[in-house]
Amino acid sequence: MDIYAHRGSSGTHPENSLAAFHEAARLPIYGVEFDVHLTKDGELVVIHDETIARTSDGKGFVKDMTLAELRSFDFGSWFSDEFRGELIPTLYEVLEIFSETSHHLNIELKSDIFPYEGMVGEVVAMVQKMKLDARVVISSFDHEAVRAVKKIAPHIETAALFMEVLVDPLDYMRTIPADALHISLPYAARPSMRKVVETGVAVRVFTVNEVKYAEALRKIGVTALFTDYPKKMMIHLNRKS
Ligand code: G3P
Ligand code: MG
Repeated sequence: MDIYAHRGSSGTHPENSLAAFHEAARLPIYGVEFDVHLTKDGELVVIHDETIARTSDGKGFVKDMTLAELRSFDFGSWFSDEFRGELIPTLYEVLEIFSETSHHLNIELKSDIFPYEGMVGEVVAMVQKMKLDARVVISSFDHEAVRAVKKIAPHIETAALFMEVLVDPLDYMRTIPADALHISLPYAARPSMRKVVETGVAVRVFTVNEVKYAEALRKIGVTALFTDYPKKMMIHLNRKS
Protein backbone atom coordinates (compact mmCIF):
# COMPACT_ATOMS: atom_id res chain seq x y z
CA MET A 1 0.00 0.00 0.00
CA ASP A 2 1.49 3.32 -1.11
CA ILE A 3 1.88 6.30 1.21
CA TYR A 4 1.25 9.87 0.05
CA ALA A 5 2.22 12.81 2.26
CA HIS A 6 -1.04 14.81 2.50
CA ARG A 7 -0.41 18.52 1.84
CA GLY A 8 3.28 17.61 2.26
CA SER A 9 4.40 16.44 5.70
CA SER A 10 1.58 18.53 7.15
CA GLY A 11 1.35 16.98 10.61
CA THR A 12 4.82 18.24 11.50
CA HIS A 13 5.17 21.25 9.16
CA PRO A 14 2.75 23.95 7.92
CA GLU A 15 0.50 22.31 5.30
CA ASN A 16 1.25 23.00 1.63
CA SER A 17 4.45 24.91 2.51
CA LEU A 18 7.88 24.47 0.95
CA ALA A 19 9.08 23.25 4.38
CA ALA A 20 6.41 20.51 4.34
CA PHE A 21 7.37 19.52 0.80
CA HIS A 22 11.11 19.45 1.47
CA GLU A 23 10.45 17.20 4.46
CA ALA A 24 8.30 14.85 2.33
CA ALA A 25 10.94 14.86 -0.41
CA ARG A 26 13.48 13.54 2.09
CA LEU A 27 11.30 10.51 2.90
CA PRO A 28 11.40 7.28 0.86
CA ILE A 29 7.61 7.29 0.46
CA TYR A 30 5.61 6.77 -2.73
CA GLY A 31 4.16 10.21 -3.20
CA VAL A 32 2.95 13.62 -2.10
CA GLU A 33 -0.43 15.34 -2.44
CA PHE A 34 -1.10 19.09 -2.66
CA ASP A 35 -3.91 21.52 -3.51
CA VAL A 36 -3.91 24.15 -6.26
CA HIS A 37 -5.78 27.45 -6.69
CA LEU A 38 -5.46 30.29 -9.20
CA THR A 39 -4.54 33.89 -8.26
CA LYS A 40 -6.09 37.08 -9.66
CA ASP A 41 -3.14 37.39 -12.08
CA GLY A 42 -3.40 33.79 -13.26
CA GLU A 43 -0.62 32.18 -11.19
CA LEU A 44 -1.04 28.61 -9.90
CA VAL A 45 -0.46 28.51 -6.15
CA VAL A 46 -0.44 25.69 -3.63
CA ILE A 47 -2.88 26.19 -0.76
CA HIS A 48 -5.86 24.24 0.55
CA ASP A 49 -8.57 26.81 1.27
CA GLU A 50 -10.15 29.40 -1.03
CA THR A 51 -9.05 32.04 1.48
CA ILE A 52 -5.71 32.60 3.20
CA ALA A 53 -7.14 33.29 6.68
CA ARG A 54 -6.53 29.87 8.25
CA THR A 55 -2.97 29.31 7.04
CA SER A 56 -1.42 32.80 6.99
CA ASP A 57 -1.34 36.09 8.86
CA GLY A 58 -3.57 37.69 6.22
CA LYS A 59 -7.11 37.34 4.99
CA GLY A 60 -9.03 37.36 1.71
CA PHE A 61 -9.66 35.11 -1.24
CA VAL A 62 -6.77 33.75 -3.31
CA LYS A 63 -8.72 34.61 -6.48
CA ASP A 64 -8.86 38.30 -5.48
CA MET A 65 -5.10 38.72 -4.92
CA THR A 66 -2.07 38.77 -7.19
CA LEU A 67 0.86 36.51 -6.47
CA ALA A 68 2.88 39.54 -5.32
CA GLU A 69 0.11 40.45 -2.84
CA LEU A 70 -0.09 36.87 -1.57
CA ARG A 71 3.69 36.83 -1.14
CA SER A 72 3.45 39.65 1.42
CA PHE A 73 1.87 37.29 3.96
CA ASP A 74 3.46 34.77 6.29
CA PHE A 75 2.30 31.19 5.77
CA GLY A 76 4.37 29.57 8.52
CA SER A 77 3.85 31.27 11.87
CA TRP A 78 0.19 30.16 12.22
CA PHE A 79 1.63 26.65 12.64
CA SER A 80 4.67 27.49 14.76
CA ASP A 81 7.20 30.30 15.20
CA GLU A 82 9.85 27.97 13.87
CA PHE A 83 8.32 28.32 10.39
CA ARG A 84 7.92 32.12 10.35
CA GLY A 85 8.78 33.43 6.88
CA GLU A 86 7.23 30.64 4.80
CA LEU A 87 5.65 32.07 1.66
CA ILE A 88 2.76 30.66 -0.34
CA PRO A 89 4.37 28.29 -2.88
CA THR A 90 3.66 28.36 -6.59
CA LEU A 91 2.88 25.08 -8.30
CA TYR A 92 6.11 25.48 -10.26
CA GLU A 93 8.19 25.67 -7.05
CA VAL A 94 6.60 22.52 -5.68
CA LEU A 95 7.03 20.58 -8.91
CA GLU A 96 10.64 21.73 -9.07
CA ILE A 97 11.38 20.13 -5.68
CA PHE A 98 10.00 16.80 -6.83
CA SER A 99 11.52 16.90 -10.29
CA GLU A 100 14.73 16.08 -8.40
CA THR A 101 13.18 13.00 -6.69
CA SER A 102 11.20 9.98 -7.87
CA HIS A 103 8.06 10.70 -5.82
CA HIS A 104 4.65 10.41 -7.42
CA LEU A 105 2.61 13.61 -7.34
CA ASN A 106 -1.08 14.06 -6.72
CA ILE A 107 -2.13 17.51 -7.90
CA GLU A 108 -5.57 18.32 -6.51
CA LEU A 109 -7.41 21.03 -8.44
CA LYS A 110 -9.47 23.09 -5.99
CA SER A 111 -11.89 24.40 -8.60
CA ASP A 112 -15.02 22.98 -7.00
CA ILE A 113 -16.03 26.28 -5.32
CA PHE A 114 -14.65 28.80 -7.84
CA PRO A 115 -14.35 27.38 -11.36
CA TYR A 116 -10.94 29.08 -12.06
CA GLU A 117 -11.15 29.54 -15.80
CA GLY A 118 -8.09 28.21 -17.62
CA MET A 119 -6.69 26.34 -14.64
CA VAL A 120 -6.84 22.84 -16.13
CA GLY A 121 -4.93 23.85 -19.26
CA GLU A 122 -2.26 25.69 -17.25
CA VAL A 123 -1.67 22.77 -14.89
CA VAL A 124 -1.48 20.21 -17.69
CA ALA A 125 0.90 22.42 -19.68
CA MET A 126 3.23 22.82 -16.69
CA VAL A 127 3.23 19.09 -15.93
CA GLN A 128 4.08 18.33 -19.55
CA LYS A 129 6.74 21.03 -19.80
CA MET A 130 8.45 19.60 -16.70
CA LYS A 131 8.07 16.08 -18.10
CA LEU A 132 6.28 14.83 -15.00
CA ASP A 133 3.33 13.26 -16.87
CA ALA A 134 4.22 9.67 -15.95
CA ARG A 135 4.25 10.23 -12.21
CA VAL A 136 1.36 12.62 -11.81
CA VAL A 137 -2.27 11.96 -10.94
CA ILE A 138 -4.57 14.96 -11.23
CA SER A 139 -7.62 14.79 -8.96
CA SER A 140 -10.53 17.02 -8.03
CA PHE A 141 -13.91 17.19 -6.34
CA ASP A 142 -14.73 19.19 -9.48
CA HIS A 143 -15.45 16.32 -11.83
CA GLU A 144 -15.82 18.69 -14.79
CA ALA A 145 -12.15 19.54 -14.30
CA VAL A 146 -11.27 15.82 -14.15
CA ARG A 147 -13.10 15.34 -17.45
CA ALA A 148 -11.26 18.32 -18.96
CA VAL A 149 -7.85 16.91 -18.01
CA LYS A 150 -8.64 13.62 -19.75
CA LYS A 151 -9.78 15.50 -22.83
CA ILE A 152 -6.59 17.56 -23.11
CA ALA A 153 -4.12 14.87 -22.03
CA PRO A 154 -5.60 11.35 -22.09
CA HIS A 155 -2.28 9.82 -20.98
CA ILE A 156 -2.24 11.66 -17.63
CA GLU A 157 -3.83 9.70 -14.80
CA THR A 158 -6.90 11.32 -13.25
CA ALA A 159 -8.89 10.64 -10.11
CA ALA A 160 -12.37 11.62 -9.00
CA LEU A 161 -12.48 12.77 -5.40
CA PHE A 162 -15.61 12.31 -3.42
CA MET A 163 -17.04 12.16 0.07
CA GLU A 164 -20.45 10.75 -0.92
CA VAL A 165 -21.57 7.14 -0.94
CA LEU A 166 -22.17 6.13 -4.56
CA VAL A 167 -24.34 3.17 -5.47
CA ASP A 168 -22.13 2.24 -8.43
CA PRO A 169 -18.78 4.04 -8.26
CA LEU A 170 -17.38 2.19 -11.29
CA ASP A 171 -20.25 3.28 -13.47
CA TYR A 172 -19.81 6.87 -12.29
CA MET A 173 -16.05 6.78 -12.97
CA ARG A 174 -16.68 5.72 -16.55
CA THR A 175 -19.14 8.58 -16.99
CA ILE A 176 -16.58 11.26 -16.12
CA PRO A 177 -14.27 9.48 -17.21
CA ALA A 178 -11.64 9.07 -14.46
CA ASP A 179 -8.91 6.48 -13.96
CA ALA A 180 -8.94 6.25 -10.16
CA LEU A 181 -11.02 7.04 -7.10
CA HIS A 182 -9.85 9.11 -4.14
CA ILE A 183 -12.26 8.58 -1.27
CA SER A 184 -12.71 9.55 2.36
CA LEU A 185 -11.77 7.05 5.03
CA PRO A 186 -15.26 6.06 6.29
CA TYR A 187 -16.29 5.12 2.74
CA ALA A 188 -13.46 2.61 2.24
CA ALA A 189 -15.16 -0.22 4.11
CA ARG A 190 -18.48 0.04 2.20
CA PRO A 191 -19.43 -3.00 0.07
CA SER A 192 -19.65 -0.81 -3.07
CA MET A 193 -16.07 0.32 -2.58
CA ARG A 194 -14.75 -3.16 -1.80
CA LYS A 195 -16.16 -4.22 -5.15
CA VAL A 196 -14.15 -1.48 -6.86
CA VAL A 197 -10.97 -2.58 -5.07
CA GLU A 198 -11.57 -6.16 -6.25
CA THR A 199 -11.59 -5.01 -9.88
CA GLY A 200 -8.07 -3.63 -9.51
CA VAL A 201 -9.03 0.03 -10.11
CA ALA A 202 -6.78 2.34 -8.07
CA VAL A 203 -8.50 3.43 -4.86
CA ARG A 204 -6.67 5.89 -2.62
CA VAL A 205 -7.99 6.96 0.78
CA PHE A 206 -7.76 10.26 2.71
CA THR A 207 -6.90 11.26 5.42
CA VAL A 208 -5.43 8.41 7.42
CA ASN A 209 -3.44 9.48 10.46
CA GLU A 210 -3.97 6.50 12.76
CA VAL A 211 -2.05 3.30 12.22
CA LYS A 212 -5.05 1.14 13.13
CA TYR A 213 -6.94 2.52 10.13
CA ALA A 214 -3.91 2.03 7.90
CA GLU A 215 -3.81 -1.61 8.97
CA ALA A 216 -7.49 -2.06 8.12
CA LEU A 217 -7.05 -0.44 4.71
CA ARG A 218 -4.11 -2.67 3.93
CA LYS A 219 -6.32 -5.69 4.67
CA ILE A 220 -9.03 -4.37 2.35
CA GLY A 221 -6.38 -3.96 -0.34
CA VAL A 222 -6.66 -0.28 -1.23
CA THR A 223 -3.92 1.18 -3.43
CA ALA A 224 -2.75 4.04 -1.24
CA LEU A 225 -3.46 6.30 1.69
CA PHE A 226 -2.93 10.01 2.23
CA THR A 227 -1.53 10.91 5.62
CA ASP A 228 -0.41 14.04 7.46
CA TYR A 229 2.23 11.88 9.20
CA PRO A 230 4.06 10.07 6.39
CA LYS A 231 7.19 9.34 8.45
CA LYS A 232 5.25 7.71 11.28
CA MET A 233 3.10 5.75 8.83
CA MET A 234 6.12 4.62 6.81
CA ILE A 235 7.94 3.35 9.89
CA HIS A 236 4.85 1.53 11.16
CA LEU A 237 3.87 -0.11 7.88
CA ASN A 238 7.45 -1.18 7.11
CA ARG A 239 7.74 -2.74 10.55
CA LYS A 240 4.54 -4.73 10.02
CA SER A 241 5.25 -5.91 6.46
O1 G3P B 1 -6.69 14.66 -2.17
C1 G3P B 1 -7.05 14.03 -0.98
C2 G3P B 1 -7.54 15.04 0.02
O2 G3P B 1 -6.59 16.05 0.14
C3 G3P B 1 -8.88 15.64 -0.33
O3 G3P B 1 -9.39 16.48 0.66
O4 G3P B 1 -9.83 18.65 1.71
O5 G3P B 1 -7.74 17.45 2.26
O6 G3P B 1 -8.02 18.50 0.04
P1 G3P B 1 -8.71 17.83 1.18
MG1 MG C 1 -6.18 17.86 -0.94
